[in-house]
Amino acid sequence: MPAPVVVLVGPPGSGKSTVAAQLASRWGVPARDTDADVEVVAGKSIGEIFVEDGEPHFRALERDAVLRALGEHDGVLALGGGAVLDEATQEALAGYAAGGGVVVFLDVSLAHAAPRVGFNTARPLLLGNPRAQWQALMEARRPVYERVSTLRVSTDARVPAQVAAEIDEAV
Ligand code: S3P
Repeated sequence: MPAPVVVLVGPPGSGKSTVAAQLASRWGVPARDTDADVEVVAGKSIGEIFVEDGEPHFRALERDAVLRALGEHDGVLALGGGAVLDEATQEALAGYAAGGGVVVFLDVSLAHAAPRVGFNTARPLLLGNPRAQWQALMEARRPVYERVSTLRVSTDARVPAQVAAEIDEAV
């Protein structure tokens, strides 16, 4: 069965998509992003899914996208920031890691995540007070990111190519 070369998890602004693209070109494999998969399946943007269908519907689409990608994608896979909260996803990641798969937690501080995210309307969960929302998300999720990952790499003050090089050396 195909399996991802590496799976990237972490909060919005940790650089998952850009690091995935860097790793993919370094290794000559495709990169895939579950946020993009969900948008294709739904035929609309994540912002529209949240507003028109609600977060539970988004999470269900996201779970399907993650489980499908884990089973069929053989490149670099970036998960949406909240995907790891889902139990079926946690189990699937545990199975992937038990089989020797690498799950990288891209760790980042608020100061470095903020300019990357831009805290615009593209991330529905960060509307209102984006900095406080981001901090609350990260505080609640940090234990989960740590539990599901096999490697933690900080992306603070580093460009995606440096992060990709560190992951490349570690795997
Ligand atoms: C979310 C993160 C987003 C996207 C959605 C929800 C989250 O992905 O899946 O807006 O719950 O943290 P990124 O982590 O790629 O921004």
